[in-house]
Amino acid sequence: MVLEGKKALVTGGAQGIGQAIATAFAHAGADVVVVDLDAARCEETLQSIRRHGRQGLSLSMNVSEWNDVKDTVEGIIKDWGRIDILVNNAGITRDGLLMRMKEEDWNAVLQVNLTGTFHCTKAVLMPMSKQRYGRIVNIASVVGVMGNAGQANYSASKAAVIGLTKTVAREYASRNITVNAVAPGFIETAMTQALSGDIRDTLLKQIPVGRLGQANDVAEAVKFLASDAASYVTGHVLHVNGGMYMG
Ligand code: NAI
Repeated sequence: MVLEGKKALVTGGAQGIGQAIATAFAHAGADVVVVDLDAARCEETLQSIRRHGRQGLSLSMNVSEWNDVKDTVEGIIKDWGRIDILVNNAGITRDGLLMRMKEEDWNAVLQVNLTGTFHCTKAVLMPMSKQRYGRIVNIASVVGVMGNAGQANYSASKAAVIGLTKTVAREYASRNITVNAVAPGFIETAMTQALSGDIRDTLLKQIPVGRLGQANDVAEAVKFLASDAASYVTGHVLHVNGGMYMG
């Protein structure tokens, strides 16, 4: 029960990695607010939080919209009194080769993956500073450090999230707030189900462990960084990729 009594906020928690993180947190003793574009889609996540005997709450929130994020975080603080842990997990892809990448696809990915992380981080920093405690974990990606043909927007957004992580870690370390990133490799979720069989086979050849990751592989790493066991770890990028990239 490494997160006993903690209050956590997980973005993009309706499915995939966010759902696994919310479930792992509840299993470890935390109450969890999950936010996603449509709160109604978070029902399955809520059920698994409650199955572990913890409080769960789902809210509709678009991480791209500052006013939405600010109001939602203020509401959570009003109801729950504090937010101990923030996981910036919401993310999207709009893949294409650079020459053909539309301006709107570039902007959309940066707006959710990078600006969304900025918004949520900014909104929780004031309450976390006041309580002199906080754990922020940002979900980056292996392609943020390796690059990936066809994902200029996505890899740029994830590389930028790593820079943001290190900077906020430096700015808030003295307030007992740690800020880290987890960089997953290829994980079996809706995001990667879109990959063709050929791409999948090529990918597998690059993964020493010989399999794609599971959402829970990522959730366990996030849980560690969110726990008190990691209180002396900040500004770190934890790679969860089956050995695909060794940073
Ligand atoms: P997913 O597509 O299954 O889930 C993402 C969730 O974020 C969805 O529920 C979606 O509705 C939500 N979301 C999207 N835009 C949002 C917005 N503006 N505001 C609030 N919620 C929003 O994706 P998955 O695979 O679970 O990915 C989660 C995170 O992990 C993402 O940041 C992704 O970039 C990252 N990641 C995933 C990898 C993979 O192989 N699946 C590998 C590396 C990183």
